[in-house]
Amino acid sequence: MADVSAIILAAGQGKRMKSLLPKVAHPVSGRPMLWHVARAARTAGIAEIAFVLGQGREKLVGTAEEFGGKVAIQETQLGTGDAARCGLSVLSSKAKEVVVLCGDAPLIHPRTIRALIATRRRRKAAASVLTGILSTPSGYGRVLRNPDGTVARIVEERDGGPEIRKIREVNSGTYVFDRKFLARNLPRLTDVNVQREFYLTDLVVQALQEGKIVVPVVAGNPDEVRGINSRKELAEATEVLRRAKIDALLDSGVTVMAPDRTYIEAEVSVGADSMIEPGVVLLGKTSIGKGVRIQTGCVVENCRIDDGAHLKPYSVLTDSHVRKGAILGPFAHLRPESDIGEGARIGNFVEVKKSRIGKGSKANHLAYIGDAIVGKKANIGAGTITCNYDGITKHTTVIGDGVFVGSDTQLVAPVTVGKGALIGAGATITQDVPPYALALSRVEQKNIADWVIRRMPELPKKAGLKIPPLKEKA
Ligand code: UD1
Ligand code: CA
Repeated sequence: MADVSAIILAAGQGKRMKSLLPKVAHPVSGRPMLWHVARAARTAGIAEIAFVLGQGREKLVGTAEEFGGKVAIQETQLGTGDAARCGLSVLSSKAKEVVVLCGDAPLIHPRTIRALIATRRRRKAAASVLTGILSTPSGYGRVLRNPDGTVARIVEERDGGPEIRKIREVNSGTYVFDRKFLARNLPRLTDVNVQREFYLTDLVVQALQEGKIVVPVVAGNPDEVRGINSRKELAEATEVLRRAKIDALLDSGVTVMAPDRTYIEAEVSVGADSMIEPGVVLLGKTSIGKGVRIQTGCVVENCRIDDGAHLKPYSVLTDSHVRKGAILGPFAHLRPESDIGEGARIGNFVEVKKSRIGKGSKANHLAYIGDAIVGKKANIGAGTITCNYDGITKHTTVIGDGVFVGSDTQLVAPVTVGKGALIGAGATITQDVPPYALALSRVEQKNIADWVIRRMPELPKKAGLKIPPLKEKA
């Protein structure tokens, strides 16, 4: 749709949020409200998007850039009509139609935008307006219809009397305009109303004066017209998107055992036959393959989890990659830039950071692996620690294929353990270990006979032991 452009009105501060952040920057399902609106416009097929930004715009230009949008600055908030005028001033001249969207209504669906465009064209109207029938319409502008069903006026609640307040059909703030009509009429708006603002909605009357019509399209799902003005409404919108995401995953062949107790953000993807257990949180751009099992309490953010992997309960993963069939947890922790190889095993209380773990390698219990490159089929014993940080810089530990690291080993980086080497338990490795060598670093053990009987007899007595006679004379 090369000749349709969009303007997203997003310069308002949103006082009722009681926040330093501009309202439309508040996240819904992990992304700013504004992002959801822009995505809907883009998915509807609109290439050119103008973002009208005001105070706090530095928090929003990132979203505008992500969509290759144009930014129009509205310095003072003189109303939606003035905001639309700002947006129109940066659009290219190609656009024949202009979709106006509200940055604070993130539940708008691309399908609905397309329907609004189609209806305006079919009816040859100056504009089409998305409306909604709400059981609690308070706060919204109300739609007054002509006998033929077209829009006669939109009246703000504040400007209307009790008769207006009774009307349940509300203006969503989403419209499609004939561009020429819009350009001709925006400069004609006045601010003669309770709020002393330039109302975009006054264009309805101007259309009628030109002998043109404005057609309403009633949203099938009233959620879509909802504007967010408070934290409560923000939470409600998040819940709507959360539920929609889970329903979409269920439809696509994912098992979600407890839909009401699972939080999955909008951009997460999950392959068929994967199973998500109660209390799982999947965030950001996480992408999960087929046949993956994610158990209770896992929190996964911006990760790639390949087919057949298994995350046991309470594992926390960030910015990492888990390859096919790997098994993690319970209580595993992957910090950013970890890469867990195919079929590898990261067990309980193992923390991995910025490390590559080769195919089939195992670190099953209580370990810290940071800044390490671990080869294939290595075995990292319980209590192994890479001492990667000397207080100033981070250093790398390299562990070759098939290495066996005995329990309670400290690997003082930078250090390399050659393939096939064996490290005896309790070692402090400060020098490179050649391939296939045995590395030992421990003080030789000394046993002193009957020391306890002679020097601390209360100890075995406390345990109820019968003290045997001394083996040797003191
Ligand atoms: C507006 C509509 C109302 C509709 C409601 C839907 C008008 C006069 N009223 O009212 O009929 O029911 O939206 O939610 O249009 N904005 C700017 N610059 C401004 C003013 C607003 O960019 O000077 C932006 C806001 O950031 C927001 C959107 O426009 O995203 C709507 O503004 P808001 O002040 O929330 O309008 P409402 O009073 O809710
Ligand atoms: Ca609003």
